[in-house]
Amino acid sequence: MSQLNKYKRFTITSALPYANGPLHIGHLAGAYLPADIFVRYLRLKKRDVVYICGSDEHGAAITIKAKKESTTPQAIIDKYHHQIKNSFEEFGIAFDIYHRTSSQIHHDLSQEFFLNLYEKDEFIEKFSEQYYDEDYNQFLADRYITGTCPNCHNENAYGDQCERCGTSLNPTDLINPVSTLSGKTPVLKPTKHWFLPLDKYQPWLEQWIDQKEGSWKVNVFGQCKSWLKSGLQPRSMTRDLDWGIDVPLEEAKGKKLYVWMDAPIGYISATKQWAIDKGRDWKLYWKQQEDEADNACLIHFIGKDNIVFHCIIFPSILHAHGEYILPENVPANEFLNLEGDKLSTSRNHAVWLHEYLEEFPGKQDELRYVLTSILPETSDSEFTWKDYQARVNNELVAILGNFVNRVMILMHKFFDGKVESETGKITLTDGYLNDEIGIFYDALESGIESYRFRQGLQSVMDIARLGNKYLTEKEPWKTIKTDPAAAKDALHNSLFIIGHLATCLQPFLPATARKIFEMLNLPVEFTFDQELTFANGHQLNHAALLFEKVEDEVIERQIEKLHNKKQEPALVEEVKIMPAKDNINYETFAAMDIRTGTILTAEKVAKTKKLLKLTIDTGIDQRTVVSGIAEYYEPEAVIGKKVSILVNLEPREIKGIVSQGMILMAENAEGKLTFVTPVDEFHDGSVIR
Ligand code: MF3
Ligand code: ZN
Repeated sequence: MSQLNKYKRFTITSALPYANGPLHIGHLAGAYLPADIFVRYLRLKKRDVVYICGSDEHGAAITIKAKKESTTPQAIIDKYHHQIKNSFEEFGIAFDIYHRTSSQIHHDLSQEFFLNLYEKDEFIEKFSEQYYDEDYNQFLADRYITGTCPNCHNENAYGDQCERCGTSLNPTDLINPVSTLSGKTPVLKPTKHWFLPLDKYQPWLEQWIDQKEGSWKVNVFGQCKSWLKSGLQPRSMTRDLDWGIDVPLEEAKGKKLYVWMDAPIGYISATKQWAIDKGRDWKLYWKQQEDEADNACLIHFIGKDNIVFHCIIFPSILHAHGEYILPENVPANEFLNLEGDKLSTSRNHAVWLHEYLEEFPGKQDELRYVLTSILPETSDSEFTWKDYQARVNNELVAILGNFVNRVMILMHKFFDGKVESETGKITLTDGYLNDEIGIFYDALESGIESYRFRQGLQSVMDIARLGNKYLTEKEPWKTIKTDPAAAKDALHNSLFIIGHLATCLQPFLPATARKIFEMLNLPVEFTFDQELTFANGHQLNHAALLFEKVEDEVIERQIEKLHNKKQEPALVEEVKIMPAKDNINYETFAAMDIRTGTILTAEKVAKTKKLLKLTIDTGIDQRTVVSGIAEYYEPEAVIGKKVSILVNLEPREIKGIVSQGMILMAENAEGKLTFVTPVDEFHDGSVIR
């Protein structure tokens, strides 16, 4: 087992979802399905593994939702914790425990961690200036402050993070901060907080992360390196809030732990609870063992927006504590899009798991299959209902279901479902089949162990493809008349293929695998080391239907539903409009020289994701402008575009290029950009005022 081989024990976590709303397919594809496949695989290999998850019940995500629904945070977490837990169960996500961060054991452990670091004098105690909303008489949580990201100039950045460029922020980093409570500019007030000195840990982090080059995904490793490169700053681990875990210090009355100080510790407290319930020792899964070779292998499955917390902040906390193991890997996934658009809770553009379960009862494996086939493992990917239909019909029904069904039907038709041989032994008699299956097993293992679950699933489907090909070649329905022994041999060999298929399907489609084992009348949990055999005279059970064709109407209804829901007025209200800015005088406006222009050339700025280097004809001259639009436009697509450009902006150096001016862009609530272009054909250099 490659990298993983040296470990005796595995601690696998999936990001604790905020208990502030239901789950959608994006959640499943991000942090849960991959982890579940990985865990099921490890279990089949008889590895010692604990799989941990639970609800994240603190932080502004919860209080904001409570405010929106005019209820209490407690009511919110109770409602969604159960709904989320149930969805996970229905989709077969096989946690050993699904815990809650509101539990006492978690509060205790989080406080213990804080005190441990406090007593070691790790924290920097600082009176800092914190944003305060004078209308609401309260300090503002990071999420209650929006403003412009100093990194990418996204105007909708939050106080803790810019969701556009992924930079982790402090609220005071924001340009033009605004309180989302009153819509006003908050004031800074002094308050004491305890900061984790990430700058102090930086050299250690650098060394640790450098070792991960090659084993961590490039997107994860690259993000870490870029944060380290810009230099880490101390980060406050306490907050002035009324929802969360109390800071366990006399002088910190009324203050709470920062949610990212408590949530990841939730992985540990959940493991403790599991150990209590099951009579196990949690320390084996989290603490450094006397002999390093006995340490557990810790792997965090997360979405890409959580990378900084799992690769920088939490490891720093564990390191500062000193007794804990660090993650071996953090295989973060990118985002899943839906029907050409970002998944969005606020616009209700999502496929909700609880709705899918109602509308497609018993078809959990179909969704698991489709999502696994398109997991955003190395870049964003897209779910569409048409693709769902095609994959179910052309792959699950036509390849997998068809093969299993044909063999079962023929076995019953010709041999009454009895596996019998004159030699007294039932074996796989075809060497080629045997070798091929072996190759697919290897591909499956290397796929899963390198977090390429799409590849893993394809290898399993290759076994089914092999089966269909074999059956078509052997034609037992014909040879049964001419050479019955050959027909029997072909069908017996096919049963072995089915057995291996079911074995390998278990991590991906657990319910389907179980159904197949039941048909074969074999034990329903088949580990990789178990030998697949049929006793002479073994009786098969009746063939059951594995998958049904998805009809066009079903898909059309879903597409229509998405379309209709997007326009529900109640949800449209939630579209975020940036608060109005303070008035300026006419002179300030008139000082801006804005012209129409044309983009002449465009190229990507090397080593950046967002920047394009443009040459613009401004009518006055031709000049270079660096613009942060590369995520929305390919260079080729913007050449020739008419634009509006602020020409008298002081030249600025961006990534070593002097940018002379700024292109004006309109930005919507999702951060999508579009050009501001004169409607009629106007010559370059026309004045805009
Ligand atoms: N609740 C966070 C989110 O949904 C994830 C928390 S992961 C943990 O983004 F590490 F904090 F547990
Ligand atoms: Zn940004």
